[in-house]
Order: sequence, then structure tokens, then C-alpha cells
Amino acid sequence: MLLSANTTINRYGSIAAEIYDLDKPFGALPDTAFHLEALAGVEGPILEPACGSGRTLVPLLQAGHDLTGFDPSEEMLDRCRARCAERGFSPPLSRQRFEDFNYPSPFAAILVPVGSFTLIDDFDTALAVLRRFHAHLVVGGLLLLDIQPLAFLAASGEDRRRWTAENGDLLTLEGKRTAADWLAQRGESLLRYERWRDNRLVETQLEPMAQRYWGLGEFSLALEATGFSLEAVTGGYARGRPPRASDRVLTFEARKKA
Ligand SMILES: C[S@@+](CC[C@H](N)C(=O)[O-])C[C@H]1O[C@@H](n2cnc3c(N)ncnc32)[C@H](O)[C@@H]1O
Repeated sequence: MLLSANTTINRYGSIAAEIYDLDKPFGALPDTAFHLEALAGVEGPILEPACGSGRTLVPLLQAGHDLTGFDPSEEMLDRCRARCAERGFSPPLSRQRFEDFNYPSPFAAILVPVGSFTLIDDFDTALAVLRRFHAHLVVGGLLLLDIQPLAFLAASGEDRRRWTAENGDLLTLEGKRTAADWLAQRGESLLRYERWRDNRLVETQLEPMAQRYWGLGEFSLALEATGFSLEAVTGGYARGRPPRASDRVLTFEARKKA
């Protein structure tokens, strides 16, 4: 499948959003503890682009940070608002995208956890987003950004999983890689989400995904080219450990140069 120009990609609709919270409850992944430690010295406001349903944003609020978040998925944002409200928080949350988000005042730090940055599936667009991050940071401000490395493009992309929803529905996901472009380092997948109730299929949602994967040196150069000074790259959320080929995530810590 090659995606047509008007296909909505990386949508994170209602079943995807429901599964996201079943699959990744607060603290289930090692990244939150790592990000909290890396942000410990940050005093000012922090922006989390692609904040989703608040898996990272809520624990950071609970740690006393001043968080602002945005995400294009209304379903993910609704969940984020509800989870914040349950805990007595009402941070600024808005429906925006990496490509054109905008705020009037700069942030002390920008945090992009897990694979969200790879959802920018085009090289030039990704560089423009890094420049937008730069424009939204104070001088010396921290960009803390995870990427999933190229190994993800080399993998089959096959995914078959199931979850039981809070109301007892069976939720299933079947993912298939539909295209891989090795020159552009870009992969397309089709995710089929289904909701089953009393042995009957009651809802299906198809979500085309497109992601661009980065090499370690390539992303380091991209940061330098967009006005950042790279301070550290960590593999597998093991603080102080340089990346290894087997790492499923690389974390870049960079500061805005004047
Ligand atoms: C893997 S989730 C990450 C959520 C959250 N940051 C976390 O730590 O769990 C990826 C999020 O990226 C959002 N997203 C997809 N396309 C985007 C875009 N163009 N700009 C900003 N966010 C986008 C999705 O809606 C989804 O909520």
C-alpha cells in the first residue's frame, strides 16, 4: 500500500487510545523514571509535544513540574484531560501538531518520549520541527527526545495483540508492514483495530501509520544543524550508558545554543 495524499496517517483514534492506556499504564515502561531524573534540575515550564493520553505528562505533574501538552488526537487528549482532572490537575492541553504548533512564550525544556518523533515521516519536515522546537526554547533550554532506531524499519512490522477492556470487550490489534523505503528510511504499516463483544465484531478501525527512522550519527548531526548542542545520547534508558546496536530506544539530550 502506498498512502494517497489525503489519507490521514498516525491518527490514534478511539480504539487505539483505549488500548494505549490498557497497554501502557503509568510507570509500566522504564522511560518515565529516566525522564524524571533527566528533568530534575529544570525549574521552568516544560512542553510535551504529542502528549497523548498523559502517560508521561501526569507523572511529571505529580513530581511538581509545570507541564503544557499538545496532541492532534482528540481521543488521546480527552483521556489526558480526564486523567489530569482525576488527580486535581488542569494543565494547558491543546489540539496541535508537531508541524505547526505555536506558543507565545518559550519553554525551559521540551520532552518527546518513546517513538513519537518518528511519526514525522519526512526528513525535511522533521528538520523544520527541530527548528520549531529551537524557537520554542529559552537559550540553554533542554531538548530531551527519544527515537526508535533503524532496527525498527528492518523488523517485519508484524503485530498481533489483544486486550480486555474495562467493560469486558475484547480489543484486538493486527499490524502489517505495507511498504519500506530504504532511501527515505520510512516505513508504512496498516493497523487494524477491532472491538468484540459477546463473540461478535462490533467495531473495526483501520489506521495507516507512517514513520521515519533515524541513524545515531544522522540524528546527532540534525540536532547540531538546527541550533542545538548535543550533551548526551543514552541507550535503553540506562543513564550514562552509550547506545548499543540492540537498543530499542535512544535518548538525545541537547541544549539550545544562543
Ligand atoms: C506513542 S504516543 C505518545 C504519547 C505520550 N507522549 C506518551 O509518552 O505516552 C504518540 C502520540 O503522537 C501523536 N501524534 C501523531 N501524529 C502527530 C503529529 N503530527 N504531531 C504531534 N503529535 C502526533 C499521537 O496522537 C499520539 O498521541
